[in-house]
Amino acid sequence: MNTQVRYTPTAIWLHWIMAVLILGLILMGIYMSELPESPDKFALYDFHKAIGMLALLLIFARLAWRWTHQPPALPQRVSATTRKAAAAGQALLYLCMVFAPLSGWLMSSAYGHPPSFFGIVTLPELVWKNESFAETLKGVHFALTNGLLFLAVGHVVLALKHHWINKDGLLNRLKPWAN
Ligand code: HEM
Ligand code: HEM
Repeated sequence: MNTQVRYTPTAIWLHWIMAVLILGLILMGIYMSELPESPDKFALYDFHKAIGMLALLLIFARLAWRWTHQPPALPQRVSATTRKAAAAGQALLYLCMVFAPLSGWLMSSAYGHPPSFFGIVTLPELVWKNESFAETLKGVHFALTNGLLFLAVGHVVLALKHHWINKDGLLNRLKPWAN
């Protein structure tokens, strides 16, 4: 087991950049869906899709990091049950981080509006245009992004509990600067 006390700079920056992107995407998604139809609403949709595709790209970079690196070992006193719960929580976070943006891409394809990456390149349509399938995928995107929000809130509460109550320095392992 790797006993280094900090994550590598790559893992640290990927974690924080993705945390900001994901929380921003959730807020943007909720806000834009409530707007009345207008050119501004659709411009925001395009921006949401482009940032969402960036998040999808970064999650693959992050998974590549995870497959090629051992994360720092948890402190010895952490029980086997807590270790299993933490691993399960992280696995669910990773699953939602992959499938939330993928469901967005699938939904947009089914609506016939595949995402454009900031006007540089239009991504391929993953499925044929089909309004009723698009509505189903919209429900899937809603469920996965809400799942992601729910898991992220739990994750942050536990991270802050470790920091302020257990005072075991777990958050320091992810600090962009060394103490
Ligand atoms: C981690 C990435 C993403 C997150 C966290 C996210 C989050 C959200 C949220 C919270 C909503 C509002 C859901 C609702 O209230 O109905 C939403 C809507 C939407 N998202 Fe995403 N999204 C992500 C990626 C994407 C991607 C990659 C695309 C497309 C390529 C996309 C396309 C859309 C569209 C088109 C809507 C509006 C659906 C509608 O109201 O018709 N999203 N997103
Ligand atoms: C959308 C927001 C977030 C997501 C999706 C997320 C996701 C993750 C994931 C998947 C890991 C596991 C890394 C690994 O592979 O080892 C992790 C680790 C961690 N995260 Fe987050 N995170 C988010 C926000 C935050 C915030 C806001 C905090 C702090 C308050 C935080 C604190 C931590 C800590 C302390 C760890 C390391 C735990 C350890 O040392 O084992 N995260 N996060």
